[in-house]
Amino acid sequence: MKIDLIAGARPNFMKIAPIIDAIKFAQSRGQNIEYRLVHTGQHYDKNMSGSFFDQLGIPLPDVNLESGSGSQAEQTAKIMVAYESLLIKDSTDYCLVVGDVTSTMACSIVAKKMNIKVIHVEGGIRSGDLTMPEEINRIVTDSITDYFFTTSETANSNLINIGVKKENIFFVGNTMIDTLLKHRFNFKKPPIWDKIKLKEKSYFVMTLHRPSNVDEEQILIELINEIVAHSQNMPIVFPVHPRTAKIIKPLLSQNSNNSMAKNLYLVEPMSYLEFNYLVEKAKAVITDSGGITEETTVMNIPCMTLRNNTERPETIELGTNELLGEDPKAIALAMGKLFSGNWKKGNVPKLWDGKTSQRIIKRLINI
Ligand code: UD1
Repeated sequence: MKIDLIAGARPNFMKIAPIIDAIKFAQSRGQNIEYRLVHTGQHYDKNMSGSFFDQLGIPLPDVNLESGSGSQAEQTAKIMVAYESLLIKDSTDYCLVVGDVTSTMACSIVAKKMNIKVIHVEGGIRSGDLTMPEEINRIVTDSITDYFFTTSETANSNLINIGVKKENIFFVGNTMIDTLLKHRFNFKKPPIWDKIKLKEKSYFVMTLHRPSNVDEEQILIELINEIVAHSQNMPIVFPVHPRTAKIIKPLLSQNSNNSMAKNLYLVEPMSYLEFNYLVEKAKAVITDSGGITEETTVMNIPCMTLRNNTERPETIELGTNELLGEDPKAIALAMGKLFSGNWKKGNVPKLWDGKTSQRIIKRLINI
């Protein structure tokens, strides 16, 4: 059994790493299962890709499609052409994709058109928001997937509702949490900790990269100003995504002191172990990411999400996450709740127990 494992963008790497571990474990038990790691090259920097391979012990990719940056269509097209030519030279039995990034959709389409079975890990989640490219990627990928591995019972229901047969859906848990639990005791203090003398539960971590929050200068500035205004002067550590940096960097260079606010610390995107070190000890996290809402739920850290919807409702129903929407005014209310000690406590969703990848590989061997 030969499986291509597709990894393209930052949030893919922590989902693929434990699947590779589980395959290696199955191989050591004499199972006939081989993998080829295909990096599409959607993310390519050390900060966005290389450091994750190093820290999570992911082997070097067998193939790099080197697609690089571009518009949605350009990126999709470049990945599709390169992956198709790889499959023509050297095919596979299964194509396993994770998550909802452009690489996920592009490779699943190519594989399916070449009659290769598609496996979608994290299938079935839906935000209902078609203005986000990720939602389109989810819908397209799921419409041609053969086997679905899901993170929640809600995802199962979503798939049943679109006509997927029950026997092809496997609720197994969350591979991103496999990685979190494996590395939780190796998180690494980033240099900024000592540099600005951070103290546990006395600072915020913030990440913003959704086009709706960051692509327009005015919206981004208003969001940041509102967060700073209600932060009670606690340090806010803001690892800036390259997409966001394109807007922020010119603003900073216009400022004589090269800063937007005294307690706002802009840093480069962080490595996995350093970022989660900060998250685990933070007062709260402010984000528009999906994956981070899952990690904060498991680590029981208050999380404010600057989006109108989520494809991960369990992080709200069970976890520590709250949706603030995209209106900056909601920030004051949420900060009030946090500082008065009234933020909800989280529970860990079912099967987010660190053993998801083992379940996936066991299942695949039986298929
Ligand atoms: C992508 C994913 C998103 C995910 C995010 C995490 C899609 C549709 N979106 O969005 O789901 O949450 O990654 O980061 O796939 N860039 C660099 N260096 C890199 C990679 C990108 O500078 O290593 C620059 C690109 O040139 C581009 C910008 O960052 O201008 C955005 O990258 P892109 O992959 O297009 O989308 P993201 O916004 O990162």
